[in-house]
Amino acid sequence: MAELRWATARDIDRVLELVEAYHRQEGLRGHGRDRLRAVLEDLFDGNKRGRVLLATEDAEVIGYALVVRRPSFEWASDVAVIDEIFVLGKGREKGLGRRMISFVEEYAASEGLPAITLEVSVQNVSARGFYRAVGFTRMDREIYARTVNGPR
Ligand SMILES: CC(C)(COP(=O)(O)OP(=O)(O)OC[C@H]1O[C@@H](n2cnc3c(N)ncnc32)[C@H](O)[C@@H]1OP(=O)(O)O)[C@@H](O)C(=O)NCCC(=O)NCCS
Repeated sequence: MAELRWATARDIDRVLELVEAYHRQEGLRGHGRDRLRAVLEDLFDGNKRGRVLLATEDAEVIGYALVVRRPSFEWASDVAVIDEIFVLGKGREKGLGRRMISFVEEYAASEGLPAITLEVSVQNVSARGFYRAVGFTRMDREIYARTVNGPR
């Protein structure tokens, strides 16, 4: 059975491999490894803003979730945000994603955070099914983003 634990600085290379696998699979922007590494190094440098949850099996990392802590006026508290969650194809549909969400919930409860929020692409039908199955409720909102100093 896969083990769940928070990643440390020693896991950076293994996490990066999986992040790249996920981004390739999803056709997400291909950021260079150095930029992703900088994000992780910042997190592990005594930073309390976020954590990376790792799922390992036989010493191999087969899943991760980036969990961010952010202040929210809406909840009058910090909340936990799942920025990304990914399980390698061979590890899917065996209950691992559900266990990872429970792990994040235990963390949130232990920190007194009242909610876990996340964004998912409308096109990602399977992830939407997963989130509903593990207890998330769809909020009727739109997400906007704008590049800084980019073309308008
Ligand atoms: C989404 C993901 C993390 C789910 O992980 P998983 O380990 O396969 O999920 P689980 O096996 O724990 O499934 C938990 C529940 O979700 C349901 N579920 C899982 N995949 C589903 C799908 N494609 N459609 C509908 N429901 C699904 C399962 O049926 C299960 O419900 P049950 O316990 O009531 O039977 C995994 O499929 C993945 O990595 N996908 C690619 C990355 C991604 O899209 N991430 C989310 C966007 S950030």
